[in-house]
Amino acid sequence: MGTAASDVAIVGGGTIGLSIAWRAAQAGLSVVVADPDPSRGAWRTAAGMLAPITELHYAESALLRLNLASLARYPKLIAELESITGLDAGYRECGTVEVAWDAADLAALRDLHVFGSGLGLRSSLLTGAELRQLEPGLAAGLPGGLLAESDHQIDPRRLHRALTDAAVAAGVRIEWHEVTVEVRDGVARGVRRGDGSLIAAGQVVVAAGAWSSQPSVCDSAVPTVRPVKGQTLRLQLPAEVALRHIVRASVKGSTVYVVPRANGEVVIGASSEEAGFDVTPRAGAVYELLRDAQSVLPELGEAALIEVSTGLRPGTADNAPLLGRTAVDGLVLATGHYRNGILLTPVTADGIAELLASGTVAAELAPFGPLRERVPA
Ligand code: GLY
Repeated sequence: MGTAASDVAIVGGGTIGLSIAWRAAQAGLSVVVADPDPSRGAWRTAAGMLAPITELHYAESALLRLNLASLARYPKLIAELESITGLDAGYRECGTVEVAWDAADLAALRDLHVFGSGLGLRSSLLTGAELRQLEPGLAAGLPGGLLAESDHQIDPRRLHRALTDAAVAAGVRIEWHEVTVEVRDGVARGVRRGDGSLIAAGQVVVAAGAWSSQPSVCDSAVPTVRPVKGQTLRLQLPAEVALRHIVRASVKGSTVYVVPRANGEVVIGASSEEAGFDVTPRAGAVYELLRDAQSVLPELGEAALIEVSTGLRPGTADNAPLLGRTAVDGLVLATGHYRNGILLTPVTADGIAELLASGTVAAELAPFGPLRERVPA
């Protein structure tokens, strides 16, 4: 392969990289995406909860605003993707029920409800009887819970497929191999393939998830992004069992979520492990997820276990993504989305494509620039 040229080279063909590529191509830029193996991306393991309320962490209000801005963009993004590709992208407005296991959990949910209401987020507290009315499969005796009507879901595997097709239809070239960012004299020049050839590009985006700060991807200007291992399970429910909402719970201090797809598949997640790049499924994590999920939804015990999946979340020092320009001219980051990569796909794609096309930093993305002080380089 000789030298090729494009306006933008994107390292990473996950949902973040592909959605930026698609939007940048729509804005008139020529774009190439390179990824050695997109199936190792966190999107393949992710359950796809779009859950700014029930994933709310105190003291992360800037991130919450970004999450909400992204959630609001989902319906339009999906309508556009589905009309271009003819594919079902797996978006489901199902709401989320957060179940309390005991009185202490119920008190914590009341606090979350009050905190969320103060930020303008809508949720309702539920008694035990109301819980079981909403989800008859829930275990008897649970003391109550919280309904977050606007915490929905997308199937990340369907989304990735649709983004791939839409990006290709918009003229994006995808190369399935490893590349390294080429920096000379403080300026990003493109990406270099393993055979030594260069894809010259005026702008380079690192969207390589947990691998983003590895020297094999880019040896400068990327603050540390560390892999945080997560395991999810895929089960097929018996035909007579139906779940209407995402169900979340903290069972004796251990959190679990159950995300039901329209076809009866459910995704149970997720472990959170600091284990480097090891993606070996851990038996203890499978046991804990099944134990906790089954204790709130006993019928899961009758489901077929169809897959154990392990992925690596891209974690950052402050749990917030790295979005925007770096100290290297022409080098842009779109990584570090940690637990929110699927939720943050629309706002990341729009904001980074705008930056690439016009140089403008979108207001939503401004607090998350990679040069912000609280992130050690
Ligand atoms: N967003 C869910 C998780 O990271 O497990």
